[in-house]
Amino acid sequence: MDKNFYITTPIYYPSAKPHMGHAYSSIIADFFARFKRIDGFNVNFLTGTDEHGLKIQRAAEKRGIETLKFCDEISQTYRDLSKTLNLTNTDFIRTTEKRHKLSVQKLWNELQKNEDIYLSKYSGWYSVSDEAFYSNDEIEENNGKKIAKSSKSIVEWVDEESYFFKLSKWEKPLLDFYEKNPDFISPPSRKNEVISFVKNGLKDLSISRKSFSWGIPVPNDENHVIYVWLDALTNYISALNYPNTTDPLFKQFWPASVHLIGKDILRFHAIYWPAFLLAAKIPLPKKVYGHGWILSADEKMSKSKGNILDPIEIIKKYGLDPLRYYLIKEVSFGNDGNISEDRLEDCINSDLANNFGNLCQRVTAFAQKNCEGKIPGSKEFKEDDLKILDNLSKNLDLIREKIDNQDLNFYIDFIVNTLFETNKYFNDQEPWKKKDNIQRLNTIVYTTLEIIRKISFMLYPIIPNSALKALKIFGINEDDIKFSTFENHNYLEPNAKLNKIDILFNKIEKKND
Ligand code: ME8
Ligand code: MG
Repeated sequence: MDKNFYITTPIYYPSAKPHMGHAYSSIIADFFARFKRIDGFNVNFLTGTDEHGLKIQRAAEKRGIETLKFCDEISQTYRDLSKTLNLTNTDFIRTTEKRHKLSVQKLWNELQKNEDIYLSKYSGWYSVSDEAFYSNDEIEENNGKKIAKSSKSIVEWVDEESYFFKLSKWEKPLLDFYEKNPDFISPPSRKNEVISFVKNGLKDLSISRKSFSWGIPVPNDENHVIYVWLDALTNYISALNYPNTTDPLFKQFWPASVHLIGKDILRFHAIYWPAFLLAAKIPLPKKVYGHGWILSADEKMSKSKGNILDPIEIIKKYGLDPLRYYLIKEVSFGNDGNISEDRLEDCINSDLANNFGNLCQRVTAFAQKNCEGKIPGSKEFKEDDLKILDNLSKNLDLIREKIDNQDLNFYIDFIVNTLFETNKYFNDQEPWKKKDNIQRLNTIVYTTLEIIRKISFMLYPIIPNSALKALKIFGINEDDIKFSTFENHNYLEPNAKLNKIDILFNKIEKKND
């Protein structure tokens, strides 16, 4: 079995500081990376910044500083954010790095060698905000301005000499590929949109610009810079040391398991990127997952619209794990989702503080008093105990399968239900009435502790710090978190000391309560 897992986030434009949408993609990617790691996979997890193109050049001009300096500064805020979000990325790539430039130029040469590139002239619409070319039927008028229908961003007319990629040639191979790899474009709801776009006919793609200089030069023609999307997409392989395809990193992790992106950039990932790779005879990634948008008052949150929620502010106010939990639970994965502080507070109070935090507190406090502060010794599982224990271990393969289909909604529902069932189990079993039957009391406490352990393992990819805090009860460290221990209902060592638990989550006083 393939025990390697390679996940990527988009590389973000450092045209402005990161917002909640960027934090969202990165947190979700980190969830998958952590899940796979504790399931025994070797994980490569890449994120970074996309620094070339007119959009960045103009943003730097507006600030009146040198473009690379501008990129250094804002790219750093993305790197800092990855620390703040507690991401376990194994690399952070900047497209202004030498390793990347060499890789892009090499890919260009491959495309040229295979006769997929020709010189011509581009006359048409271009959106600098999207760094995308649009045809006439993809634009509309709004207050006398031409805008792209899909993104509503302003387009400008471009008339210049340009190199083209023979995208049209790859129409049929792409359609064949989608058919043979039905999971390549996920979730399934996004597939038709891509397929019908391709079926409508692909035009050759302009892949160089001549009217500005902030980009990677076209090999052997310094008057042109390479189109920023051809440049940016290549990051996924330049980080694995492409063009050295015999490099251990490349051999181990390419093709990528999942490119996680927002639906705004699906076309680039599901059409252009596979076409470039087909043309260069490089294997295609296994999956492109286009998640929905975080909305702010029903509009896509975006730097250019200025309607952003600042993840740093939210984290300062509520803490990181509540934010991670909230984004994973409340935005139905794959769809758009509105977020609000009010709902975030509800989530903290009901799910985190009440259902999880309280369960941990209650059971450990009970064990402190009634089991000498130790993991109970003698015990004998009965049907009720095994039923709830088995529910976790017997469903592990199902959980793995759901995660391989990015079914985060299933995962979080499973956790919420298990927490509910466990609280109910502890109440129904009434261990406080079993003081004359120590073995029964022990068994109930042991069972509940075992479930807290397993649930904390499952929560670790979502709320890593809090899960680790909970696992401190048992002296379990990060390296010990392994799904392979799920089968074992006797994992906790009898008579081992139970450590005191720190408060996991503070309840929020709500104004309208
Ligand atoms: O497109 N909701 O960079 P970008 C959810 N550099 N996710 C959002 C979001 C929102 N409101 N806003 C942004 C680029 N995102 C290119 C990518 S990849 C080779 C090059 C997330 O800074 C989402 O993942 O505009 C989206 O696809 C990405 O940020 C776009 O970031
Ligand atoms: Mg964008």
